[in-house]
Amino acid sequence: MPADYASILADIAERVKQRDFQTARNADYIPALAAVPGDRFAMVIRDVNGAEYSTGDADIPFSIQSVSKVFALVLALRSCGEELWQAVRREPSGSAFNSLILLEQEEGIPRNPFINAGAIRVCDMISSRFANPDRSVAEFLGRLSSNPDIRADNDVYLSEDQHGNRNRAIAYLMKSFEKLDNPVEAVVRTYFKQCAIAMSAREMARATLFLANQGIGIDGNMVLSPAETRRINALMLTCGMYDGVGDFAFSVGIPAKSGVGGAIIGVIPGEFSVCVWSPRLDARGNSAAGIAALEMLIEAIGRSVF
Ligand code: DON
Repeated sequence: MPADYASILADIAERVKQRDFQTARNADYIPALAAVPGDRFAMVIRDVNGAEYSTGDADIPFSIQSVSKVFALVLALRSCGEELWQAVRREPSGSAFNSLILLEQEEGIPRNPFINAGAIRVCDMISSRFANPDRSVAEFLGRLSSNPDIRADNDVYLSEDQHGNRNRAIAYLMKSFEKLDNPVEAVVRTYFKQCAIAMSAREMARATLFLANQGIGIDGNMVLSPAETRRINALMLTCGMYDGVGDFAFSVGIPAKSGVGGAIIGVIPGEFSVCVWSPRLDARGNSAAGIAALEMLIEAIGRSVF
């Protein structure tokens, strides 16, 4: 019997409302994110047959932040192919997403494409290949979610640009090792713009579907080959939740990617994509209610990728 996602989601929303996530906090190192109401909650499932189920604030746009790193990687892979893996490794970092320590020890080669260093290097590759790199990820997400109006929120962009010293430090460190091809300021601008993209949970679940559907997007077009799609899912499973990745695999057990705007995307390949959004974050920078909701989902359907 297929799972009754509509009532599972309604039940999750109710249980999340009753839980106390008061120790969790909105990200405030990007001031524009601190202003978002912390009790917002949305969850959307899109299955591979095209059915969609949602609960809560499913159509309210939020800042996608690091969730963008998955789509930037896919876009870069489509134009660079295997060459990309010379520039970025594929190991979990076990440290904070914006840490500089490993980057110094490993001579400017990022551990994986989902820590900030790796995503900045991916932006560098996009900058070398696309005529309008600052808009390329937004346009790609517009195509994947069938909403051509998707774009960066300028307030969030400016907020991040003004408080972006750590990301600039990461980019300059890579540049010092001659591991960045383009000027630092151009690359971080592209990176901040992609992080500032605003989308709803519904749009995000739609854009993510290809990762559950062997690379085929909601419009039936192939976004990525099935083999490369499996690799992206492997990277999300091992590197998508930063230094919380082990606990998340243990308690939820699906490929997923979080962002400090409070979104988490995930997939069960062959079944569905899911996006959950709630802005308050745990100590590792992952949505506290989002992780709880995904645990409830997995418990309700009784399976994960394991
Ligand atoms: O670069 C940053 O710090 C943010 N634009 C993105 C960080 C992020 O979303 C990490 N997620 N957990």
